[in-house]
Amino acid sequence: MNATKYQELQISISQAEEITYKLFNIKGTASELPGEVDFNFRIKIKGQEGFILKISRPNEDESYLDFQQSLLQYVEKNGRNLIAPKVIKDKNGNSISEITDNFGNKRNVRLLTWISGRIWSSVNPQLNDLRFSLGEQCGLLTQALQGYTHPKSKRNFEWDLAQSLWTKKQNHLFSGKEREIITHFQNRFELAQPSYLKLRKSVIHNDANDNNLIVSPDLINPKVKAAIDYGDAIHTQVINDLAITCAYAIMNHNDALEAALPIIKGYHATFQLQEEELAHLYTAIAMRLIITVTKSAINKIAEPENTYLLISEKPAWEVLKKWYNISADYAEYSFREACGFSAHPNQTVFLNWADKNTFQFSDVFPTIQSNNGYQLDLSVSSKWLGHKKDMAAPDFLSYKLNSLQQQHPNKLIAGGYLEPRSVYRSSAYDKIGNNGSESRTIHLGIDFWLPAQTPVHAFLDGEIIITSYNNNDKDYGGLLILKHSVDELTFYSLYGHLSEVSTKQYHVGDMIQKGECIGYLGNMNENGNWVPHLHFQLLLSMLNFTNDFPGVGYYRQIAVWKSICPNPNLLFKKTELSTTKIATNDTLIAFRKQHLGKGLSLQYNTPIKMVRGDGQYLIDQYGQKYLDTVNNVAHVGHEHAAVVQAGQDQMALINTNSRYLHDNINALTQELLATLPEELSVLHFVNSGSEANELAIRMVKANTGERDIIASEVGYHGNTNMCIDISSYKFDGKGGEGAPEHTHIFPLPDAFRGIYRGNNTGEQYAKEVQKQIDIVHSKNRGVGAFIIEPIISCGGQIELPKGFLSRAYKYIRNAGGLCISDEVQVGCGRMGKTFWGFQLHDVVPDIITIGKPLGNGHPLAAVVCTQEVADKFANGMEYFNTFGGNPVSCAIGTEVLRIVKRENLQENALKVGEFLKSELKQLAIQFPIIGDVRGQGLFLGIELVDSEMIPLAAQTDYLANRMKDHGILMSIDGPDHNVLKIKPPIVFTKENAEELLFYLRKIFSEDFMKKIA
Ligand SMILES: Cc1ncc(COP(=O)(O)O)c(C=O)c1O
Repeated sequence: MNATKYQELQISISQAEEITYKLFNIKGTASELPGEVDFNFRIKIKGQEGFILKISRPNEDESYLDFQQSLLQYVEKNGRNLIAPKVIKDKNGNSISEITDNFGNKRNVRLLTWISGRIWSSVNPQLNDLRFSLGEQCGLLTQALQGYTHPKSKRNFEWDLAQSLWTKKQNHLFSGKEREIITHFQNRFELAQPSYLKLRKSVIHNDANDNNLIVSPDLINPKVKAAIDYGDAIHTQVINDLAITCAYAIMNHNDALEAALPIIKGYHATFQLQEEELAHLYTAIAMRLIITVTKSAINKIAEPENTYLLISEKPAWEVLKKWYNISADYAEYSFREACGFSAHPNQTVFLNWADKNTFQFSDVFPTIQSNNGYQLDLSVSSKWLGHKKDMAAPDFLSYKLNSLQQQHPNKLIAGGYLEPRSVYRSSAYDKIGNNGSESRTIHLGIDFWLPAQTPVHAFLDGEIIITSYNNNDKDYGGLLILKHSVDELTFYSLYGHLSEVSTKQYHVGDMIQKGECIGYLGNMNENGNWVPHLHFQLLLSMLNFTNDFPGVGYYRQIAVWKSICPNPNLLFKKTELSTTKIATNDTLIAFRKQHLGKGLSLQYNTPIKMVRGDGQYLIDQYGQKYLDTVNNVAHVGHEHAAVVQAGQDQMALINTNSRYLHDNINALTQELLATLPEELSVLHFVNSGSEANELAIRMVKANTGERDIIASEVGYHGNTNMCIDISSYKFDGKGGEGAPEHTHIFPLPDAFRGIYRGNNTGEQYAKEVQKQIDIVHSKNRGVGAFIIEPIISCGGQIELPKGFLSRAYKYIRNAGGLCISDEVQVGCGRMGKTFWGFQLHDVVPDIITIGKPLGNGHPLAAVVCTQEVADKFANGMEYFNTFGGNPVSCAIGTEVLRIVKRENLQENALKVGEFLKSELKQLAIQFPIIGDVRGQGLFLGIELVDSEMIPLAAQTDYLANRMKDHGILMSIDGPDHNVLKIKPPIVFTKENAEELLFYLRKIFSEDFMKKIA
């Protein structure tokens, strides 16, 4: 169409308003909307949802418009619980009206109700619940369209998936891999035609793309409200509607298949899908994408400047490429599982067969006499397995297994079906899913723990379909897979970790008879340096595998895998080899609620049960790994091997109190003194940070005879009576009763949102300390002490302003008080630049208290003071502490300090911390919701505020929970709960920091985070 002609067709806003009034008697304000064919206007009316006015081009096929209008009217009548545009009839009762435009053209006019909300494409994130609601809405619509017919519903249409083979003629537009992918799916579709053509049909919406879906405005848990634009509706196979819905809504997800599943579930919930339909869904999704990319390729030639026409091309290709790599069978099984069918169609047939056929262990291992099993727990929480370093020591594991076998001489040690494991050392199968990184953890077979060379026999006739030997970073040892055909059923048995020679004995295609020896267990060398065992697995499908088959699956896919790989114990029916049951957390939570103190809180909206620690990671009972940015207690890494060893070694010898001489208490003292200025020379060991501060205050009283303590607003120093009394975080918080008489709180020295802001506030805040000294004096009392953390943690990682601490110390000392540095959170090298927090400020306290990091999780804390303070405290009363300074705790503390030195962890805290901080500052430029980035070393904070500096607690909470969804643990603090704290084990690496930043960037981009007033 030439430009002038198009100009002639234009309808102005005032014309649109006039038409609406004249034809429909509706007075509203019009605004123009984009439209491919029609000229569309939104008609706004105050206090109402309003309308959409559609003016067609001249000579529009009226029967096609009639199809659209009658379809909407049918939906209105039939669609229960369904929101859809409604047809508004004109003053004369017509659902299609007519006008003559300024150029004398007859134009059709329609008015529909407006559906308010957000367009799908603008919604971020698009989570499972949203995709489920998408499926539900589309299913409802298909349900509402059942029985509807119209002559125009059956027509030639390139966007009809059933007609999609027209794209074959355009294959010359593609080359290389792209052409291969396209032809692959076209061929699949063509081959499937006989059964595809038999699928049920009806009129369907046929175009639930990201611009045709209206989502509720909720920023948390939004739902799809309605599908709009019924212009592509057509009578075709029903499954095409779901395929189209999926094709668009799975774009831009790492795991496209996983993204499709909630949509399918939702669709099935409102419109029951049939098994035969699901068998075609995988290919149908691909065919829709092929129509999209083919149309784009054609448009690129026809209208090279029109980039809008190419909008879906890139993401469509991305999905197509991923889709091509997914096994079609696996996809179908996943769809089936999503709809509540058995994932594998033969599951029931197999179960029935297995029910009727029982085998003995001796059928597989005739040389082994035992006919009973002994279940070995190798799950992620297995105490038998112990520390990670022991799991990786095959000789030690062999020794343990031998001992176990000796204890149970008549039993066959076995187990592991569906066990979540963390023993897998290879990262070759790690992947980035839709929620962060995932590792394969769920064991899909049974392991039989038998000596190398144990013969393995076929329990059933079978054909060798795979025989291979690998000893690389992915696969270990010899592998045989046998195909069995029994009754109407085909299934497979897999034998892993065989010796190399046993895999040379047979070839693919060889027929094996029941009872025949098929191989021998491999030795350690043949088995990736791992303990000999047979991995025995059953498979109902080989999927696309031709050379190997996974023996371990991803936790998220467990429901599908357990159907493909049934429990091998179904053959033997040994009750002692029960399947590992992964309990949910509900019972734990319920018990805890009833029997543990109500004041105990649980982290995250959905609490997690952690069963194993590993460096900077925590692992839950399902084997899911979380990057820990919270735990400054596991200072040198969760369950650091040397720390565990030190504790275990000493525990095996003696643990008693400090009234006996022992080297360990002296060794720990020496290690600590080596890090401290010489003035701080006397130690007392205790069991917690609270106890340390409690003792420090006793020392103050003994030294000064005064009880008045000056502390910071929002400071926290522990959970005992005295500690609560000096912790504004507690007594000024929920359930608190304000400051006690002898506690004097000065304002939080927060240069970002405190009473004095910006640079050079040190003196102003120090003067606030002086004010409190004056208050004490005005009551005719003296100052006992001043206690503060070098970075105020609970206050929201508040860095003390420059010059503040030295001034405050001076004022306190002038008043006769002592200065306590609470190093419970920040100590032991975390600051990076310095080993202790007070050293950042060039001061020497009279007392320092040490806690959390010193024991790396073991309860160990200490108070260090000057000789003078210690001497005055030693007034004749014995200081006895049952556990403080015991040999086990001291062995652990000594090892922690040595590890910090040995592994250069203070330097690591500095290097990684500075990198992270500078990157976070960059992030703050990109996302203005980040008001401040602060901290030292690996003790950082990010404060979220709006443009008026109002704290954004809800956003902070959202962010922490969303990060958890991506396997990253973060904590929140600050009086306004708007500071994210980053204080990981100081083995945290630059790669960890990069991962953290990647997901922060992702979550900060989500809609909920963008709402700043
Ligand atoms: C700064 C500070 N001091 C003291 C304590 C008390 O330590 P604990 O919980 O080991 O008694 C804490 C605990 O969080 C703390 O953060």
